[in-house]
Amino acid sequence: MKVAVVTGANGQLGMAFVQTLVNSDYHVYALDLKIDNIKKENNLTPVCLDITREKDVHEFYNLFTEIDILVNNAGIGVFTKFEDRTAEEFENVMKVNLLGTFLMSQGALKLMKVQSYGKIINVGSIYGVVSSDERIYGDSGRNNSEVYSATKSGVIHMTKYMAAHFGKYNIQVNCISPGGIFNNQSSDFKKNYEYKTPMGRLGNPEDLQSALKYLISDETKYTNGINIIVDGGFCAW
Ligand SMILES: NC(=O)c1ccc[n+]([C@@H]2O[C@H](COP(=O)([O-])OP(=O)(O)OC[C@H]3O[C@@H](n4cnc5c(N)ncnc54)[C@H](O)[C@@H]3O)[C@@H](O)[C@H]2O)c1
Repeated sequence: MKVAVVTGANGQLGMAFVQTLVNSDYHVYALDLKIDNIKKENNLTPVCLDITREKDVHEFYNLFTEIDILVNNAGIGVFTKFEDRTAEEFENVMKVNLLGTFLMSQGALKLMKVQSYGKIINVGSIYGVVSSDERIYGDSGRNNSEVYSATKSGVIHMTKYMAAHFGKYNIQVNCISPGGIFNNQSSDFKKNYEYKTPMGRLGNPEDLQSALKYLISDETKYTNGINIIVDGGFCAW
């Protein structure tokens, strides 16, 4: 059976990505810090793993001889004000979004190189492409941060680096950059976000599942190093 690994599997998008891969007949290793909500099934194995811990990531990969797909979905933000940001907060976001993506990719690429096949899908963000518009957040306290944007921009660029250096081994590395996903945000935020989005709505997990389906398809053999922005046109103007 083909093997897929998804990080941040306990989160809103992670759960949807896991489902897509299970439905596509992969055995999915669903990684997260907390796995209580992930039910072990025949072809679904929850794994408690902190992707920022180098030794733990290495030990995880020691269990495998083959891996077909890695989805680097785990990501965090920080919501304190720019002026109040601490070095610790800044470093935490860097660690999960960049170091975690790097460590997980490094382990997968070693195996993929030997088997001359593999697909890595990173999860970026519209805020790795454009800056956030503070006017849509109002007083929600959920403003995007500089470090989130910088790391997501870094994820998009790490995608290109890995695509450029591992394409010759028949490995494809691509990125999906979601726009805002509906998750019971305040009605003010929702109204502002919808106004700013050409398609007039927030995204939902299904919108991202279709992008993943495209990238994991056996027919998708030559797409490499791209960033698929799934945002209803948010970045188009
Ligand atoms: N939801 C959105 O609106 C949106 C928009 C753009 C991009 N994204 C990106 O999509 C991805 C998923 O977002 P989401 O909304 O589902 O987030 P979420 O917060 O629901 O899930 C993220 C998961 O990552 C896990 N995680 C955090 N640190 C970890 C670590 N060190 N090791 C292992 N797991 C860890 C968390 O426990 C959590 O379950 C993230 O990379 C996020 O930046 C989300």
